[in-house]
Amino acid sequence: MAKVKTAYFCQNCGAQYAKWVGQCSSCKQWNTVVEELVQKEEKQGWKSSSNTAKKVSKPLRVHEISTDKETRLNTFDLEFNRVLGGGLVPGALVLLGGEPGVGKSTLLLQIALKLPYTTLYVSGEESQKQIKMRADRIHPNSENCYILTETKTQNIFRQIEATDPDIVVIDSIQTLHSDYIESAAGSISQIRECTAELIKFAKETNTPVILIGHITKDGSIAGPKILEHMVDTVLQFEGDRNYVYRILRSLKNRFGSTAELGIYEMQGGGLRQVNNPSEILISKNDEKLSGTAIASTIEGMRPLMIEIQALVSTAVYGTPQRSTTGYNAKRLNMLLAVLEKRAGFKLGAKDVFLNITGGISVDDPAIDLAVIAAILSSNEDIHIEKGVCFAAEVGLAGEIRPVQRVDQRIIEAEKLGFTEIYVSKNNKIGLKNTKIQIHRCSRIEDVVSDLFG
Ligand code: TYD
Ligand code: MG
Repeated sequence: MAKVKTAYFCQNCGAQYAKWVGQCSSCKQWNTVVEELVQKEEKQGWKSSSNTAKKVSKPLRVHEISTDKETRLNTFDLEFNRVLGGGLVPGALVLLGGEPGVGKSTLLLQIALKLPYTTLYVSGEESQKQIKMRADRIHPNSENCYILTETKTQNIFRQIEATDPDIVVIDSIQTLHSDYIESAAGSISQIRECTAELIKFAKETNTPVILIGHITKDGSIAGPKILEHMVDTVLQFEGDRNYVYRILRSLKNRFGSTAELGIYEMQGGGLRQVNNPSEILISKNDEKLSGTAIASTIEGMRPLMIEIQALVSTAVYGTPQRSTTGYNAKRLNMLLAVLEKRAGFKLGAKDVFLNITGGISVDDPAIDLAVIAAILSSNEDIHIEKGVCFAAEVGLAGEIRPVQRVDQRIIEAEKLGFTEIYVSKNNKIGLKNTKIQIHRCSRIEDVVSDLFG
């Protein structure tokens, strides 16, 4: 038995110390340093084959580097491909984070089941039977997906050698443990060690590895921050558990843009890809309801029409309530102050509730004008005509400001059958031959008189 050693690790950044300190000197956080068991020993994670181990790299001029066309593995899931930037890059390590129950395991199992390549799905959280039950609901007849329930990395590598998979999925990195570190699974040193072993395996065999990562209370991925530095791509799966829509975002991507976004709908038989999100986010009732307005927003690279609902009512208590779902409450307060000051609306004694339908959250400032229109529509109890939508930011002086990529927003609105759109006067519009009527406004007063007379 080798001598047991301990060291101190910062839970925030992963820095290592020989003795306890109150403040981590590398990330400056207080009380994040804890003691963990480590055992330094000759380690044998993924065994490098002898020729790769001996390969010494030497500097090359940029034009000398061979550029064989980068081949990406198609995941046969349009949304997942889009977020990755066109598919999985061989040898890439992808980390997928998200709240418990949002559907991380479902998403990856579903992709693994439908792939025509050999996939090894390693689960440390569920038994083979439980996974089989889930698989039966999603895609019962899968030929190429192997399920392994194992948490020890050395055993996982042994199985990898036996099955020789094209893609490996690990659910989740926090459940893995390596024999060469003595601390508990999920601790900083274990996560770091297991990830390092998997990176070594991925890079040497050119096999893409997808890891599932738990997130902490404040929404960041549990484990050291360096975990995010170590992997090539960090994806986040988010969505309100009470709603069916889920959004897949990329937070870091070494092989593509981080602006892309994937949208799914959680159904009884797994996740359905949503290729035209605007249609589902707008309610299709024909009643003329006051308090709703449609905004043309851009999420990632995709234009998206969303519905904003506002309810303005007389405050019962002294302090009026302001509550939002899917929208920044501070921004709402700012817009209410602008309305009060610039448009003479006395909203100080009113409760204001704002909701973005579909359970998605939006921080695009281009929905400001629609928010204002929804609030006023509820306050005046006058509905906004069905074919009307908005795409503009509102400034503190009550001016209507231009937004980026307005052409794309107008095209999306027109595609979905809208007949009128309100934008800023200062927005340059390059479109010709549009059927949609474009109102170009400079102040909120103009919009108010136009809509509510
Ligand atoms: P899961 O993938 O287990 O979440 P995570 O791994 O992120 O913790 O997803 C669990 C939720 O998904 C669960 O609340 C039920 C729901 N679900 C469906 O609605 N339909 C399905 O076909 C499956 C497999 C799950
Ligand atoms: Mg899970």
